[in-house]
Amino acid sequence: MICKDFLWGGAIAANQCEGAYKEGNKGLSIADVVRGSVKGVDRIIDASPVENIYYPSNEAIDLYHNYKQDIALLHELGLKCLRFSIAWSRIFPNGDDERPNEQGLQFYDSFIAELKKYNIEPIVTLSHFETPLHLVHEYGSWRNSKLIEFYVRYCEVVFNRYKNDVTYWLTFNEINETINKKEPWLQAGLIFEENENPFQTKLVASHNMFIASAKAVILARKINPEFKMGCMIQYTPGYTKTYNPDDILAKQRYSNQNFYYADVMVKGMYTHTCLSVLKRYHVELNITEEEKRILQQGKVDFIGFSYYFSYLISDNGKNGYIYEKGNEYLKQGQWNRTIDPKGLRISLNELYDRYGVPLFVVENAIPCDDLLNADYTVEDDERIDFFRNHIEQLKLAMENDFIDVIGYTTWAPIDMVSVSTGEMKKRYGFIYVDKNNDGSGSLKRYKKKSFQWYHKVIETNGEEL
Ligand code: BG6
Repeated sequence: MICKDFLWGGAIAANQCEGAYKEGNKGLSIADVVRGSVKGVDRIIDASPVENIYYPSNEAIDLYHNYKQDIALLHELGLKCLRFSIAWSRIFPNGDDERPNEQGLQFYDSFIAELKKYNIEPIVTLSHFETPLHLVHEYGSWRNSKLIEFYVRYCEVVFNRYKNDVTYWLTFNEINETINKKEPWLQAGLIFEENENPFQTKLVASHNMFIASAKAVILARKINPEFKMGCMIQYTPGYTKTYNPDDILAKQRYSNQNFYYADVMVKGMYTHTCLSVLKRYHVELNITEEEKRILQQGKVDFIGFSYYFSYLISDNGKNGYIYEKGNEYLKQGQWNRTIDPKGLRISLNELYDRYGVPLFVVENAIPCDDLLNADYTVEDDERIDFFRNHIEQLKLAMENDFIDVIGYTTWAPIDMVSVSTGEMKKRYGFIYVDKNNDGSGSLKRYKKKSFQWYHKVIETNGEEL
């Protein structure tokens, strides 16, 4: 049996849904200058917005103006919690401002009040790919330890403002994508200069983010000892492609990289695993004694993680690893996704075995190319199947493997802009939003078939799938 206060919910992010990118004195964030992808070409990032170019996050699904109706719909869906991000650049438009922007705070005052009205627990991500753009131009983004101070200043403002309304906080969304992405623009505002060793920069930036996160955790506990502070990582379990020992070793290297971030944030130190990763990339960090103390004191209480699919891992012959999809035992879904429900149970076991702290599945989903029928219905059976099979495994992990899970939030209960492609066509929601890749569409919302299905799941506390 799942406990009655289990947090069933959905997860969204400001830059992918709010729009209103300049309203209420908001400053630009790194997401505001990323163009949508054009037929397989990588997304283009501009130093500052170019006139007459379409940036998907600028309007997104205009949640900023529709949040009351949208939260009412999410209440109708039955959500017990909503994970959302506060856009840092609404609160500190440039990032390094001395004072917060009152208009930005007022927006979140109303947003959170609206959630509370319906008893929906707010789960806040403090930084979900939304570093203020000015911090990139002026300071070189997270390469620079100056950002720690700005981030903590922002956290202090929102912790104080919402100390009686919010309990669960996540410091950085998918922080481990800083090392995994070739150019982690959205994760850390990084684009590499020629002659720069990308791994040195990525791991220095990560170190600055670790210190920022730990300082925020320490501060949070002073402001409200009841706060529950979490890290947020992307977890993609890897299976060895063969039983060749070289592949097993490659899988160990893959896992070490996967654990690097949670080790520092949960164990509060650079573990042996972390040191092996630094060594492999020939990276040196100067970690002071003071920083070591901060990391120890600022350990998180729980791990939030996103789970979408699994990989096959093999040796690349160069002391690294190859990761790929295409597991013969698993089905492929739309958008080239490997569908692996048991991978969720495996992830929960791996993380709980290693860390022993409560886990929160804060993202899980499959994108679908949904079709809005003439009668405004959407038959999204593939989505229903996906969630049914994953929730079954979640239950097994909790009931049979005794794993402490706080909650489960599906990625994007309402359709929104995709992070990786900037498209609207890559849909995740239980609610369809009439908007197209080129920005056209009425922005009207329609319930998909999965809406009633998820409603029932929550109503029966996961009994009826
Ligand atoms: C996660 C991110 O990586 O995956 C979300 O935290 C993102 O912001 C989600 O939207 C789905 O990815 P995409 O690229 O399909 O939007």
